Amino acid sequence: MRLLSVRLIISLIVGITVVSLAFSYYQVIAEKRGLRSELERRAELLGESLAGNVERSWEVGSDKELQKIVQRFGKREYMLGVAIYDPQGKLVAVTPELTQMMTATPSSLIEALAEDQNKAAFVRLGNQQVHILAVPLHRKDKLVGGLAIVHQVSYIRAQVLQVWRDTFLRVLAQVFLIVFITLLIVRWSIAGPIARAAQWMRALRTGRISSRQEMPDLEMFRPLAREVATMAHSLSQARLAAENEARLREAGESLWTADRLSVQVQTRLDGARLFVVSNREPYIHQRNGKSIDVSVPPSGLVTALEPILNACDGTWIAHGSGDADAEVVDTHDRLRVPPDDPRYTLRRMWLSKEEEQGYYYGFANEGLWPLCHIAHTRPIFRADDWKHYEEVNRKFTNAVLEEIEDTPGPVILVQDYHFALVPRMIKEKRPDARVAIFWHIPWPNPEAFGICPWQRQLVDGLLGADLIGFHVQSHCNNFLQTVDRTVESRVDWEHFSVLRQDHRTIVRPFPISVDFTDDEPAKDSQGFTYEERAALLRALGVEATFLGVGVDRVDYTKGILERFLAVERFLEKNPTYQGKFTFVQIGAPSRTHIKRYHDLLAEVEVEADRINWRFQKDKWKPIVFLKRQHSHKEILPYYRAADLCLVTSLHDGMNLVAKEFLAARRDERGVLILSQFTGAARELRDALLVNPYDIEQTAEAIRFALEMEPEDKQLRVQRMRRVIKEHNIYRWAGNLITELSEIRLDAAEDQHEKLRANVSVA
Ligand code: G6P
Repeated sequence: MRLLSVRLIISLIVGITVVSLAFSYYQVIAEKRGLRSELERRAELLGESLAGNVERSWEVGSDKELQKIVQRFGKREYMLGVAIYDPQGKLVAVTPELTQMMTATPSSLIEALAEDQNKAAFVRLGNQQVHILAVPLHRKDKLVGGLAIVHQVSYIRAQVLQVWRDTFLRVLAQVFLIVFITLLIVRWSIAGPIARAAQWMRALRTGRISSRQEMPDLEMFRPLAREVATMAHSLSQARLAAENEARLREAGESLWTADRLSVQVQTRLDGARLFVVSNREPYIHQRNGKSIDVSVPPSGLVTALEPILNACDGTWIAHGSGDADAEVVDTHDRLRVPPDDPRYTLRRMWLSKEEEQGYYYGFANEGLWPLCHIAHTRPIFRADDWKHYEEVNRKFTNAVLEEIEDTPGPVILVQDYHFALVPRMIKEKRPDARVAIFWHIPWPNPEAFGICPWQRQLVDGLLGADLIGFHVQSHCNNFLQTVDRTVESRVDWEHFSVLRQDHRTIVRPFPISVDFTDDEPAKDSQGFTYEERAALLRALGVEATFLGVGVDRVDYTKGILERFLAVERFLEKNPTYQGKFTFVQIGAPSRTHIKRYHDLLAEVEVEADRINWRFQKDKWKPIVFLKRQHSHKEILPYYRAADLCLVTSLHDGMNLVAKEFLAARRDERGVLILSQFTGAARELRDALLVNPYDIEQTAEAIRFALEMEPEDKQLRVQRMRRVIKEHNIYRWAGNLITELSEIRLDAAEDQHEKLRANVSVA
């Protein structure tokens, strides 16, 4: 750093000096030129008026008169004097001060007399530099003599010296100032941040802090530090994975990890590539003034699939819904993600407003979503929406076909209710592809599903897949019953499969989960202290002793209003908790172009306000509604600080918030209150299961949770964390892919072989 400072200072001194000298040099030349021409002009003017006076006195013919004139005119500023000569160059009159100096006739005067015109020259007289203007004198047009006007020149030199002196002082001041500022900047913006960065990196390397921990403000070294943090994170992940593997080998356990899944996928798929198709993309790029922000959308599907793609690479095809999405893709609409640590390819699809309206908002979310969730919102089916749904399914299918063009035996995981037609569309063109579709939402009973005018087409499209996955067995049963009643096929209840037009589809439950592999009690297993929780609430402007949390997209299936009513009832029945218990609802606005969602958002706000108005006192209020999307990092402190988490969906395929809450509780505390109508309720038997429509019951569960013995809480959380650890997202993907890889694709063998041969020849 010292060397850098010295180099900077030397460069600055040399730079400033050279530039200032060059400028001063030109300034001096200009100044000199200006002063000289000013002097010449003044001499000319003086010469003119003096010549007239002398010529007139010459007529009078008195030398005395001439002497008087030279004395009168000889006293002007910067003037040394005046001398008058006869036509032969002999001195006639001279200012006394000049007598000594004018020992000889100046050559300019001789020239002026000879050529009969003014002559000027800078010459040396004695030891002085002077300017002499020689003017010929006339009487009646006849040359009668000459006049020499002599000016000092030394003042020009003095002024030039003054310029150089000023320059020196200016350079000195500038050098001092700039060097001082440079040293300050080096210290503040380079040396300081580098020292902080080094300290932080050392702490990272030695594991004293986590790579997830906020980095200090490193100013311009931030991008570098971010890279280092990512590297450190990857390193610590690798270290953790290795430790985990070793532990597992030691304990003979079989935990699913990212590494294990990656190996499993490679061996099971025999090198085949993985392709995922979903409507929602894992990263959304959005314009924010001149910069582009990237965010992860609130979607259980994204939460679940991202770790799999990170572990296995592959291509994820999804709708590019961000307003800056198109700005960051390559010419094939692809980019590598995650942005900080690219591991797989995201291929973005573009939809027109009409397509998005008809397929996504219309058929998928106003039709299929309420159709499959028994939450008493009526599905709306429009023929136009169906047309768009078919078209967009075709569009995505074409993109998949394009992506898998050169891949023999690709494995394609289609996601959710947006793409029921895609499996058949793919298989028609590529029977060698292994296609699975996972339905992330519930499948209702056949009577409920039967109201959809296009149920046959949907079921037929799905049966194009080799494997159909649901979260729980009852959804599989509902689906098979629907198939039985809708299309011509043979349902094999023993093996849970359907045979339709010589194609067999296997139907299985795969309970989806979260990325959770490490349930070792953390170093910080004490969890949030009372003070930390108070600080978290204080930041929201609230003071409370107990904290409940809810995290959802604002969706009518999530039972947010029912949850608020339960909080109200709890406070009504247990007034001692008034002033003490606050419920924080993190609600990400979702699908707000649909009226039902738009209205719901307002209803949730009104309901929170009503309940707050009823109970609120001093700095306490019962409900805090945080109406915006929060990142996982932002949600974590709430999960960790909460006494309880409320998941009160009226109907939910799985609900990953319940599992994320438990995964976050390394301190083995906190109580999960969980709707019995979620898929998660089948696995998380130690949660307090409630019927969200039963407000009394949920209110009682809140009281029960707050008053539960700490040992009881710990035991329940421990057991549920074990369930999630053993059934994490890697196991979900591992099972799904194993099942898919074991399916025999008889009809496709030929094509597969052909493609394999073509590719190896190429
Ligand atoms: C559910 C669906 C997902 C969807 C998510 C968020 O979890 O199963 O497919 O991504 O809701 O909804 P959105 O419409 O915003 O994608």
